[in-house]
Amino acid sequence: MGTFKNHVIYQIYTKSFMDANGDGLGDLRGVCSRLDYLKELGVDDLWLTPFFKSPLRDNGYDISDYLAIDPVFGTMEDVEELIAQADQRGMGLMFDMVFNHTSTEHAWFQKALAGDPEYLDYYIFKDGAPDTPPTNWESKFGGSAWEYVPHLKKWYLHLFDVTQADLNWENPRVREELKNVIRFWKQKGIRGFRFDVINLISKPEQFESDRTGDGRRFYTDGPHIHEYLKELVHDTGIQDMITVGEMSSTTLNHCVRYSNPAERELSMVFSFHHLKVDYKDGKKWELKAPDYRQLKRLLSEWQLGMQEQNGWNALFWCNHDQPRIVSRLGDEHRYWKESAKMLGTAFHMLRGTPYIYQGEELGMTNPGYQTIGEYRDVESINYYKILLAEGKTEAEALQILGARSRDNGRTPMQWNAEDYAGFSNRKPWISIPDNHSSINAEAERADADSILNYYKKLISLRKQYPVIAEGTVGFLFEEQEETFCYQRETEEETLLVLNNFRDRKVTLPEALDISGYAYLAGNYGNTEGSAEVTALKPYETMVLYRTRNKMATD
Ligand code: GLC
Repeated sequence: MGTFKNHVIYQIYTKSFMDANGDGLGDLRGVCSRLDYLKELGVDDLWLTPFFKSPLRDNGYDISDYLAIDPVFGTMEDVEELIAQADQRGMGLMFDMVFNHTSTEHAWFQKALAGDPEYLDYYIFKDGAPDTPPTNWESKFGGSAWEYVPHLKKWYLHLFDVTQADLNWENPRVREELKNVIRFWKQKGIRGFRFDVINLISKPEQFESDRTGDGRRFYTDGPHIHEYLKELVHDTGIQDMITVGEMSSTTLNHCVRYSNPAERELSMVFSFHHLKVDYKDGKKWELKAPDYRQLKRLLSEWQLGMQEQNGWNALFWCNHDQPRIVSRLGDEHRYWKESAKMLGTAFHMLRGTPYIYQGEELGMTNPGYQTIGEYRDVESINYYKILLAEGKTEAEALQILGARSRDNGRTPMQWNAEDYAGFSNRKPWISIPDNHSSINAEAERADADSILNYYKKLISLRKQYPVIAEGTVGFLFEEQEETFCYQRETEEETLLVLNNFRDRKVTLPEALDISGYAYLAGNYGNTEGSAEVTALKPYETMVLYRTRNKMATD
């Protein structure tokens, strides 16, 4: 336990990382061909989004066979080769386990549809009349969470797309099947697992309609969740692997339990509250300017709460479900480089394990699609229709998608300035932003001051200074909306991390004495020689460091 604390994990969205076979879709051989890039970046582990057999309605999060590779991504030999090649470079792989639901094309669901009672019990089927769903719960992708199957005269639950049927974890046979999936991949020699929406697996005994919400309070962190996780982890012997759970609408208390080593559940958790500070009244599809005060409050609450109770956070701004952070909280035009570096620092120096989502290290931006025809994501397309039905104009709906769609983060990795950004030699499955001519890995490798080289630095600092992985965290200037400043500390070392979230110079509430501190990183240049910091420039970031030993010998 614990080795993950000084790791940095890189997320690969398999479909958009690198296309080796020229079909316009990323694949496993493509990933293999770019391992040297990742090694040079310095990351420890690679989390790959699902490449298992799937109709790809939800890009692989709709699995029809957990133990087979979808041919668009490659073969079992390709997976084995990838594991071996990553291993040779000292990097471990983490696979993505989607255990809340399967695709309706999965053999289990097909048998259920054929009326086999054993398999009907693998899912959540409820008797009922065709016009009244069992409850009023809503799917996370819009519309009802229930679908009626006329020949069975039953409804089945799908918290996500209609082709993603929720599994019945109450059934011990289902739990055994899923343990076998873990055992199968574990013996291939991978280092860890990411568990998709894992806190939704335990559904309540009674299914009742929700008077005030969409039903999530009944199944989020549900009644048997901790029991099920403990059983899964224990019975598959993955306690010492790196495991991260994606926790939807969760609470701090549950996350402490999921990640406190004494509980023997998971190594760490993804929670999302900090990525809702630009949702109007908590609604994803209503735009609002980011509330920085709320962002700071949430970050300090989760940092301090997890610290007090020995939990562990996964630190992230970006993933395949989120818009690009530089477009969202930074300034992708005037202060593109400064704001991308600041946002990276703000998270990498916190207490937890940082995740870099492909292209984040280049400062990749949202694509700015102008037509609905450019979108691919099932959620975005559903919500586009819902927004129009609610009376929004096409332009308004497109503006919302432009800020909120998951496709913003799913555009192909920008490797170079060529037509298809070096991702493929033919037109990719989703359009590439024009800015790949300047924002790309090749150009940034050659530029000492690039965002890419700055991320390398952030990663190497973690390896060099134990305080980053092990220190306590405490916050400074909590009342100041514009800045995000904190201190990390062990008995020997102190780290001071100063960030300005805004596009203007901000004066600190009081001058900070920085004499005796070394300057480790930043985006405006060395402060050494100055005795104090009184203000931060637009999107300025700096990491300052001091050891007691050094002080003593000075
Ligand atoms: C998670 C995945 C997302 C997927 C959903 C349903 O949130 O990250 O991409 O659509 O679960 O599996």
